[in-house]
Amino acid sequence: MMEQITLPADNSLAPGEARCPGRSVADLLSNEDSRNDPGLMDSSYQFMGDEDVPFSRYTSQDFYDEEMQHLWPRVWQWACREEHVPQPGDFYVYDIGHNSAIVVRGEDNKIRAFVNSCPHRGMAFADPGSSGSGKQFIRCPFHGMSWHLDGTLKEIPCRWDFPHIEDENFGLTEIPSGSWGGFVFINFDQDCGSLEDFLEVLPEHFKDWGLENRYVAIHTYKELPGNWKMCMEGFLEAYHVLQTHPEGLRASSWANTQYDVFGKNVSRFLQNLSTGNPHMNQNENEIYGVLGYHPEDLPEGTTAREAHAENLRKDMGKAFGVDLSNVSTSIMLDSIEYHLFPNACFFPGIQIPLIYRFRPTSLGTCVHEIMILQPVAEDDERPPPAQVTKLRMDDSYKTVEGFALAHVLDQDTENFYRQWAGMNASQKAGQTLGNYQEVRIRNLHKTLDEYLAG
Ligand code: FES
Ligand SMILES: [Fe+2]
Repeated sequence: MMEQITLPADNSLAPGEARCPGRSVADLLSNEDSRNDPGLMDSSYQFMGDEDVPFSRYTSQDFYDEEMQHLWPRVWQWACREEHVPQPGDFYVYDIGHNSAIVVRGEDNKIRAFVNSCPHRGMAFADPGSSGSGKQFIRCPFHGMSWHLDGTLKEIPCRWDFPHIEDENFGLTEIPSGSWGGFVFINFDQDCGSLEDFLEVLPEHFKDWGLENRYVAIHTYKELPGNWKMCMEGFLEAYHVLQTHPEGLRASSWANTQYDVFGKNVSRFLQNLSTGNPHMNQNENEIYGVLGYHPEDLPEGTTAREAHAENLRKDMGKAFGVDLSNVSTSIMLDSIEYHLFPNACFFPGIQIPLIYRFRPTSLGTCVHEIMILQPVAEDDERPPPAQVTKLRMDDSYKTVEGFALAHVLDQDTENFYRQWAGMNASQKAGQTLGNYQEVRIRNLHKTLDEYLAG
């Protein structure tokens, strides 16, 4: 039986200092090869206050409009993967609110982003979410003006009618762009800070985790019933595992998940999977059984978790055609989620290789896009990125072929109808967050305030 973790509050501790009793993530990792992974051993938590977070930040149209005006046009956001535009002339359209960017790879192989709006009479060059290849130039579908792939003007039909246009002043509007981990980032603000600064610890932590050497094996797109922050925040804590994903309790360390806030933009949770629950009396053989093996087959002197990681290194390495022998146990097995403000999450794990982002489509709806990134085989070419599978609001992730985490994602997303209804029905002013387990939510709102303050 699950041991209930309901210790009385310890008044000798300062706010935010209390932790779930039992083995911590740091305890576990420091006793295995994961201790050699500097990104994993880095940790950072600070108490950020315990005031309620107003529900109006989710349910008010005025607040939503403020975000549309002050957040999305000014913040770095991932537009697509580099592999979505592999050749000169390939393009990908990224939209948020009324802002739209067309990401294009030029003849010089450089990836640029332009405002997706014709300088003539404003026609969008391509539709939201569309992509394509083989263009030699960007031609407007309305009157046929065209631009080179670097954004300089190529041709104006009936040039005689536009003597007031100077070619060099009639290029496409380029917006800041950059790449990290195989992702192309854009920013609609010409005066934004650098992408490098924005990414904080991400490049350093991920330098050995190789997201750029992975390919999009599955890509889903699903509309969710709720404000984008509400839906995303359901993925920023593991506190909900107890009630929402109870089947995971026997082989995870949910209540002992570590939460880190590394800066304004980057936070992380690190949940040990494929291990015993520190609150259940399981011996290593039993845990090995829970992981799907015969309990007696656990090799002498090794933990179930390490044996499982070693088995997966071999099996998954063979299946992917890559050498996983140097991948730490934690990266092999754990649920490790980095959140990048405002809307993206990156998991470096091999067993849990998720990437996702949330984009608002209205006050009470958002789109959740998930990518499963898998390693590119060492002796092979990068497979083309998976086509997007569009799911309607009520569709199950089980309809997506090969989507191993479908059951878990269905449990998460089924919560949102009720949470959105309850947030709107509430007569309480705001939500009350846990000091530790929900600190990433608080950090998100704090950074959001800085954007809204202009
Ligand atoms: S609107 Fe683009 S060519 Fe006229
Ligand atoms: Fe969940």
